[in-house]
Amino acid sequence: AFNLKGRDFIELTDYTTEEIQYLLDLAIEIKDKQKKGEVYHPLKGKTVGLIFEKSSTRTRVSFEVGTYQLGGHALFLSKNDIQLGRGETIADTAAVMSRYLDGIMIRTFGHENVVDLARYSTVPVINGLSDLAHPCQVLADLQTIYEHKGTLKGLKLAYIGDGNNMAHSLMIGCAKLGVHISVASPEGYEPDAQITEQARHIAKETGAAVEVVRDPKAAVEQADVIYTDVWASMGFEEEQKAREAAFAAYQVNEELAQHAKPDYLFMHCLPAHRGEEVSEGVIDGKNSIIFDQAENRLHAQKALMAALIGS
Ligand code: CP
Ligand code: NVA
Repeated sequence: AFNLKGRDFIELTDYTTEEIQYLLDLAIEIKDKQKKGEVYHPLKGKTVGLIFEKSSTRTRVSFEVGTYQLGGHALFLSKNDIQLGRGETIADTAAVMSRYLDGIMIRTFGHENVVDLARYSTVPVINGLSDLAHPCQVLADLQTIYEHKGTLKGLKLAYIGDGNNMAHSLMIGCAKLGVHISVASPEGYEPDAQITEQARHIAKETGAAVEVVRDPKAAVEQADVIYTDVWASMGFEEEQKAREAAFAAYQVNEELAQHAKPDYLFMHCLPAHRGEEVSEGVIDGKNSIIFDQAENRLHAQKALMAALIGS
């Protein structure tokens, strides 16, 4: 078995292929327990703090509900309601929180905030999304793909659109699990070069291919999964108009999807802008598994918390 107690979860790069596989297996097991109504309380007597600097529906609700289902208690801490929003340092916040809490999840803008919080905390810190990465989402996504396809290694995922936090964590997660990934982005919106390099390095070990291309059709060619995300992420709202123009040829629609395998899966981390990055027909079509993905945020994060914080 794998002992992940006390570890932080900042990006999937920090975990081995085997450790990620273990978390996915645990997520499936915990989901099964939940469906059968079995009681499972590894967080009994434990409290998890959830710090939010940005909006959230899925992350907030799945972490709160997940903690409760594991027998623990969750605190929603809006950045503006705690002293962090008035300039108390991350280091002091981390030190103080560590005296009360058994684990901390943070959703923030700058990725360095997550790294700093983890550095100064003595309890596990989980990245609930930064501008650079969204590893909790990708853990749930890998679980969802596995449940639908029965395998991960050797599949091809096409990510169409902004080279953002989702693109980054998908590249790392796919590389770790041997899933080929092809990212298609317009000029100026490519994924971070250093993360792309990191993903390629990891992929060498697992036999995965990591491609960054311009043409969305080339990325989608024979894909098992088509994934997209909003064109303007949280914090980039004022670029909406410019981005609509830049991404106009990057909509995932019926025509583009024809290049994928007939039984392709459509995925989106949500929230979606219907009619922008994805057509109504595709997101509401028979290949779409967006709500399975959303549900699995609960199960994957319960596995994560049980492994890192649970007793
Ligand atoms: N996918 C995701 O993280 O959704 P929220 O922003 O609603 O948490
Ligand atoms: N890329 C999006 C993901 C939201 C879950 C954002 O950062 O806003």
